[in-house]
Amino acid sequence: MKLAILGTGYVGIVTGTCFADLGNDVICVDNNEEKIKQLNSGIIPIYEPGLEELIKKNRQNERLSFSSDNKEAVRKSDIIFICVGTPPRNDGSADLTGIEKVSRDIAESMDSYKLVVEKSTVPVETGERLKDAIKRNMKNDVEFDVASNPEFLREGSAIEDFNSPDRIVIGVESKKAEKILCELYEPLNAKIVVTNIKGAEIIKHAANSFLATKISFINAVSNICEKVGTDINAVAEGVGLDPRINSRFLKAGIGFGGSCFPKDLQAFIRISERLGYSFDLLKEVEKINEMQRALVVKKVSDMLWNLPDKIIAVWGLAFKPNTDDIRSAPAIDIIKRLVAEGAKIRVFDPVAMENAKSELGDQIIYCQDAYEAVEGADCVVLMTEWNEFKELDWQKVKDIMKQPIILDGRNIYDPDKLKGLGFKYTGIGRQ
Ligand code: UDX
Repeated sequence: MKLAILGTGYVGIVTGTCFADLGNDVICVDNNEEKIKQLNSGIIPIYEPGLEELIKKNRQNERLSFSSDNKEAVRKSDIIFICVGTPPRNDGSADLTGIEKVSRDIAESMDSYKLVVEKSTVPVETGERLKDAIKRNMKNDVEFDVASNPEFLREGSAIEDFNSPDRIVIGVESKKAEKILCELYEPLNAKIVVTNIKGAEIIKHAANSFLATKISFINAVSNICEKVGTDINAVAEGVGLDPRINSRFLKAGIGFGGSCFPKDLQAFIRISERLGYSFDLLKEVEKINEMQRALVVKKVSDMLWNLPDKIIAVWGLAFKPNTDDIRSAPAIDIIKRLVAEGAKIRVFDPVAMENAKSELGDQIIYCQDAYEAVEGADCVVLMTEWNEFKELDWQKVKDIMKQPIILDGRNIYDPDKLKGLGFKYTGIGRQ
């Protein structure tokens, strides 16, 4: 099939590339001409395992191209995926101006039947507005459908998630749209959930909010574990082995970040409010997440007594492993708070350092590896559970540090082992 992907951010670039790899002709469009120029010369703006090779392969096969011309891409395509950003406004609601803008480009250039699919995460009822906007701005009297097909891929495993999805959600208002989307996804052999557009829009917000709720729930329980001196990891295992609950997204730690959970929670709370329902449960989920970050600062300060001039090493900056994404990353926020308290910070992350530099500037020291980061440190805080932080030469770490104190923000280390080596260890919800 012929596809146009409007918006070449994370979702757009991965979706477009994977659809091309399935054999479709795909044009990925972005209004950032510099980005398109780079993509056309083989430079990929994000770090995602396997993506660079897949882009190269599909460009060579001439199934994937990049352009900055929305209208031409729409004319050449049958299915148009809207993947533009829907960033939060100051009040947390989703800013949909990007969607409105591309809807006008679509409307003005449609010259035959088009299926317009929302892939960006949007509040419920956006599909209706999109349809109205296209109708209002159409130049040619042609037939079109709007559909919703939310994306569930995770950063760091996005290609695998695309190719082996748990489910594909399709929100449609016509049999024709349903047939086209089912055919498009047929090669993936996945379970397809067909509903209406509003249902699909809510599925996305509800799924991300529920996962965030699981994380905040276990973080809340971790605070109880801490108070009575037991280990949250064992408690989470015992709870998670019930298949009705399951153990995924039940890892306590410094809280969730990233480009989706914090933003989608906010947007779901705001749209609920607009519709006349106060989603207090989700407000509490946010509050617990915020408290986890404050807890890290408190723990470090309790361990070191006073923060001014203390040297704190940080392992990991990305909001999770296998990505260079630092958007809403707990590590960035916690570092800013520690710096504000007068601490000196030395950091290392395998891939997110460049992104962090633009956010944190020269107020902290960037190191070459995990060992350099702990040189002369009074304490080390593990923020992101990259594999390379799991197997370290602990004797070397201890020898380099000024004081062997560790705060394990993701509960990945064996407390007894580290204590046996002479470290003062604390985790989140475990000692
Ligand atoms: C998420 C959803 O999983 C995905 O379906 C959606 O399309 C986009 O949002 P992503 O943001 O890539 O994906 O990351 P995810 O792996 O879900 O992790 C989100 C955050 O939760 C990370 O900061 C992670 O460290 C944290 N987390 C996750 C926990 O703190 N504990 C857990 O048990 C799981």
